[in-house]
Amino acid sequence: MDLKNQLLFTKDLKKHFAPRQGFLDRVQTFFPEWRATRTSVKKVWANLSQPVTAVDGVSLSIGEKEVVGLVGESGSGKTTLGRLLVRLIPATAGEITFNGVQITELSQSQMRDHRQSIRMMFQKPGTILNPKLTIQQILLEAIEVHSHHGDLFELISMVNLPENTLHQYPNDLSGGLQRRVTIARTIVGNPKLIIADEPVAGLDVSIQAQIINLMKQIHQNHGIAYLLISHNLKLIQYLSSRILVMYQGRIIEQGTTHEISKKCCHPYTIDLLKAANYDLNAMNLVPSTAEKNDDKNGCPYRFDGCPIYESGKVNRQKCDNETPNPADISKTHRVACHYHDFSEI
Ligand SMILES: Nc1ncnc2c1ncn2[C@@H]1O[C@H](COP(=O)(O)OP(=O)(O)OP(=O)(O)O)[C@@H](O)[C@H]1O
Ligand SMILES: [Mg+2]
Repeated sequence: MDLKNQLLFTKDLKKHFAPRQGFLDRVQTFFPEWRATRTSVKKVWANLSQPVTAVDGVSLSIGEKEVVGLVGESGSGKTTLGRLLVRLIPATAGEITFNGVQITELSQSQMRDHRQSIRMMFQKPGTILNPKLTIQQILLEAIEVHSHHGDLFELISMVNLPENTLHQYPNDLSGGLQRRVTIARTIVGNPKLIIADEPVAGLDVSIQAQIINLMKQIHQNHGIAYLLISHNLKLIQYLSSRILVMYQGRIIEQGTTHEISKKCCHPYTIDLLKAANYDLNAMNLVPSTAEKNDDKNGCPYRFDGCPIYESGKVNRQKCDNETPNPADISKTHRVACHYHDFSEI
């Protein structure tokens, strides 16, 4: 793929979070002997003392006007990746290029020029919208920051927000209307890319459908590219033309929606698909029960019930010792599994 034509691409992006040292020190002060005696506490302690690798070498690309879905279980690093892309948090390593400019090292003031073009829609609108401002004030503030000449009434009609909500406060509105406000706020100034983190989480199924259709309509009318983050694979399949599957900080499979839905070959993706078909209504995948694998070598999915590994029919040493690198299956389909062509699962 010619990356020069891509709106956004990353190279080997990483994010490590330091251990929560302040918290650890306080626990140690108050309960010195707990650390030594209780096995479960010891385990928690060991986990908290480890730096967390939330994003572990992600290379991805998003084209102009493209809708790309990012799916993965809770804790796999989706939100962290989104926050890295909009430079809300600094990367530990790697590069981000947006609109032809390497933005990884830009200062916050240099980033200002790009803030209008690449925007993030956060997971919980209720906590993002200032409860002390009316909807009108919230939207006018966004217009002033991002566009200066935007029209408030045009904006609310774009997201089908009733006019009588303008004088209400966020907490007076239902979850669906709050979502419409956040969408309106995000599209002010016509950005090139919106990173939408769990855009319909917490909404009733019928409201979810309305918001999904609104997002689709905005994409079609304004050609805004989306990176849609969700653990709801059905939603991702419906809206995206390409899907990235994330597991423990890595993109373990990516391809067109057709390739991922019909020809996926990573056992984790196969599990996601089975689960999505099992419960069609906005299911939440439970977090991995696997112990966090600190062993830098080997495939992390082998600890999480990988059916290929557990079948005993492959050379497990390879899974134990070598982290699989993404391999090309087609021009658009890529998978990180040593035995992706194993046909018996
Ligand atoms: N500020 C932070 N400090 C330390 N660890 C963090 C921080 N933010 C995220 N993490 C850790 O990074 C990992 C990835 O978290 P992240 O929120 O990106 O996952 P996610 O895929 O968005 O999960 P969810 O689907 O539940 O929203 C988790 O192990 C999380 O505990
Ligand atoms: Mg998240």
